[in-house]
Amino acid sequence: MKNRWQKLLMVLVLVFFYGCVTAQETRKSSEPPAVKAKTSQVPQPATVKHASVNSLDAPAVYQQPVAPLTTLQCAQCHEPVFNNIKANGGKHQLHCRECHETIHTYRPGKKWQDVVPQCATCHGEAHGPSFLACLACHADPHAPIASLVNLAELEKGCATCHDAQKVEVAKFLSAHTEVSCSECHHTKHGYKPDCRECHEEPHTAYVDNATCIVCHPVHSPKQISYPETTANVVCAGCHGVVAQHLESSHRKHSQQTCVFCHVDQHGYVPDCTKCHAQPHSAAMLKRFDNNCTECHGEPHALILPGHKD
Ligand code: HEC
Ligand code: HEC
Ligand code: HEC
Ligand code: HEC
Ligand code: HEC
Ligand code: HEC
Ligand code: HEC
Ligand code: HEC
Ligand code: HEC
Ligand code: HEC
Ligand code: HEC
Ligand code: HEC
Repeated sequence: MKNRWQKLLMVLVLVFFYGCVTAQETRKSSEPPAVKAKTSQVPQPATVKHASVNSLDAPAVYQQPVAPLTTLQCAQCHEPVFNNIKANGGKHQLHCRECHETIHTYRPGKKWQDVVPQCATCHGEAHGPSFLACLACHADPHAPIASLVNLAELEKGCATCHDAQKVEVAKFLSAHTEVSCSECHHTKHGYKPDCRECHEEPHTAYVDNATCIVCHPVHSPKQISYPETTANVVCAGCHGVVAQHLESSHRKHSQQTCVFCHVDQHGYVPDCTKCHAQPHSAAMLKRFDNNCTECHGEPHALILPGHKD
């Protein structure tokens, strides 16, 4: 009687054990059923764990070359790292082994830096000798851009990496010289602001930054220059009277744009003789001290002596 109960108990224990093991097996391996059949006698935990390689007989296995772990195999244990690279890795979506040439050799007493990959192997001194502590800014090697440190931290380095802008802002003094880099480039590294964030009602109709930058280089906004396509209406916003004169005149200057005569540099005023080399006899001009406007009035509302208008 006692013996029968013992036997039944043993069977139950075996069935339960086998159930657990196969459940684990289906979770961990994608082996075809044939492999299960092979191990379906009385499974030893050790053999079940290595079911995937057990499709070969034991001695034959040792004839196989050992392939390096693939990225997906690393991911089976390091899933968080894998998911991180997948979501935030950017151009670091490389195979694990491209960076981690040696793994699992880290032991207490060994230096961590000697085990993990060195940025310099692939990048050298990416930003020159001033920025060698890569992880101080790229906090996570598996997400090097997404993990960039905050702007307050970067601010110290703006000028070193963007020397040209720093020099420009300092050389051409303007109100923008007083504005810090990250007051304009706020929120995140690389962000470029709209002029209108600070200049709510600019003197020119705003379409986008390009509208303003044709005249105001943003890091030296007082170095105003403009293209020859600039419409009179842009100048008229500030030079209303002059523009009005030009528009209501019937003389030939009205067929020209402001910037045809006032080329390139704001404030440039041409001589009449730049375009009209010798309109009159030298004797006549000398008598009037070369003063064209005495007879012709101002250039935006020309007078032709002897003509109406
Ligand atoms: C069987 C599971 C397993 C697999 C497969 C595995 N690792 Fe690990 N790995 C671990 C464990 C456990 C540790 C030590 C604990 C920890 O840091 O999470 C570790 C630690 C590490 C470390 C820390 C530093 C070191 O070398 O000790 C790195 C780097 C690493 N693994 C990379 C990899 C890469 C790359 C692969 C694939 C080529 C890989 N691992 C495959 C389990 C695994
Ligand atoms: C671009 C190079 C690069 C790639 C690709 C890369 N790693 Fe790393 N990984 C590093 C560096 C560098 C460190 C050391 C960071 C430190 O010093 O704190 C590191 C650290 C680790 C660590 C230990 C610290 C941690 O974050 O847990 C593990 C584990 C790890 N990597 C696993 C992987 C796995 C798995 C893959 C592929 C899925 C992978 N790495 C891909 C460069 C890389
Ligand atoms: C095994 C070589 C390797 C190592 C080691 C490595 N990188 Fe890279 N890294 C690359 C490659 C390849 C790219 C992509 C380059 C490209 O396409 O221009 C890249 C790109 C980057 C980028 C730009 C990423 C993007 O999405 O635009 C940053 C930032 C970067 N690496 C930082 C680091 C830092 C910091 C380390 C050390 C923690 C490091 N890398 C280690 C190979 C490496
Ligand atoms: C002071 C902070 C800082 C340090 C330190 C730093 N980086 Fe960067 N790195 C940046 C910033 C900011 C960018 C630009 C990111 C972007 O494109 O928005 C960048 C971009 C990169 C890129 C992308 C390629 C490019 O030029 O556009 C690589 C690669 C890179 N860093 C590698 C490194 C390496 C390697 C080190 C260490 C030798 C390092 N960085 C140290 C801040 C830093
Ligand atoms: C360690 C070097 C480094 C530091 C520090 C750094 N940058 Fe950059 N920055 C870069 C790199 C690399 C790029 C991307 C490549 C490029 O376009 O020049 C970039 C891109 C930019 C861009 C976009 C450029 C474009 O043409 O789209 C702006 C704007 C910028 N940085 C502003 C800043 C400001 C403001 C700071 C300080 C808060 C700063 N950066 C700090 C390296 C740096
Ligand atoms: C008054 C606001 C303002 C200030 C201050 C400012 N920037 Fe800019 N910056 C801009 C704008 C707007 C752009 C985009 C211009 C465009 O659309 O072409 C820009 C563009 C850039 C670029 C991209 C390349 C270029 O020149 O177009 C870099 C790099 C840059 N700034 C760095 C800096 C640095 C470094 C500082 C501090 C020394 C700084 N900026 C100060 C507004 C500013
Ligand atoms: C983060 C705020 C900010 C942004 C963005 C900004 N500016 Fe300014 N700007 C200022 C301040 C502050 C002044 C000085 C007060 C004023 O004139 O409103 C100024 C003054 C100027 C001046 C007069 C310069 C002087 O020294 O008298 C010009 C021109 C100018 N900005 C053009 C631009 C243009 C063009 C853009 C876009 C490309 C721009 N600004 C974007 C803050 C900004
Ligand atoms: C055709 C050239 C031109 C364009 C386009 C232009 N500006 Fe100007 N801007 C000027 C001139 C010229 C001045 C006057 C400079 C002086 O006072 O010496 C000026 C002055 C300014 C000033 C100084 C304050 C003021 O109003 O007198 C600001 C701010 C300004 N501009 C912002 C802008 C913004 C923002 C845009 C884009 C919507 C823009 N500008 C487009 C030529 C231009
Ligand atoms: C935002 C207002 C503004 C705009 C837009 C503007 N100007 Fe001016 N301009 C001024 C101011 C203010 C002065 C006088 C300050 C000075 O002497 O620099 C001036 C001076 C001048 C002068 C020199 C006058 C002298 O007596 O020397 C000329 C020429 C001129 N502007 C032409 C233009 C032309 C052409 C445009 C269009 C491309 C233009 N301006 C757009 C504000 C503006
Ligand atoms: C045909 C050439 C020509 C055209 C077109 C022209 N100008 Fe002029 N402008 C001149 C000359 C020449 C002077 C210098 C007059 C003098 O010496 O008294 C001048 C003087 C000025 C002055 C300074 C003196 C004053 O009258 O206030 C301003 C401002 C000016 N122009 C703005 C403009 C604007 C704005 C436009 C377009 C609406 C314009 N100009 C179109 C040739 C031109
Ligand atoms: C940037 C060149 C330029 C400048 C500077 C210039 N003009 Fe002219 N001017 C012209 C052009 C172009 C015409 C038209 C010629 C034609 O169609 O035959 C013209 C025509 C004239 C005419 C004849 C007008 C008519 O309706 O028949 C007079 C008079 C004249 N200019 C006087 C002046 C005086 C005075 C100045 C200086 C205050 C001046 N110009 C400066 C380009 C210029
Ligand atoms: C003493 C008065 C006087 C002075 C000073 C004077 N002009 Fe004239 N200008 C005239 C008269 C009168 C005409 C002829 C009008 C006509 O065609 O009937 C004329 C005609 C012109 C014409 C038109 C020629 C044509 O063939 O259509 C131009 C251009 C001109 N002047 C430019 C100038 C310039 C430039 C200056 C200064 C260097 C100047 N003038 C000085 C009186 C003057």
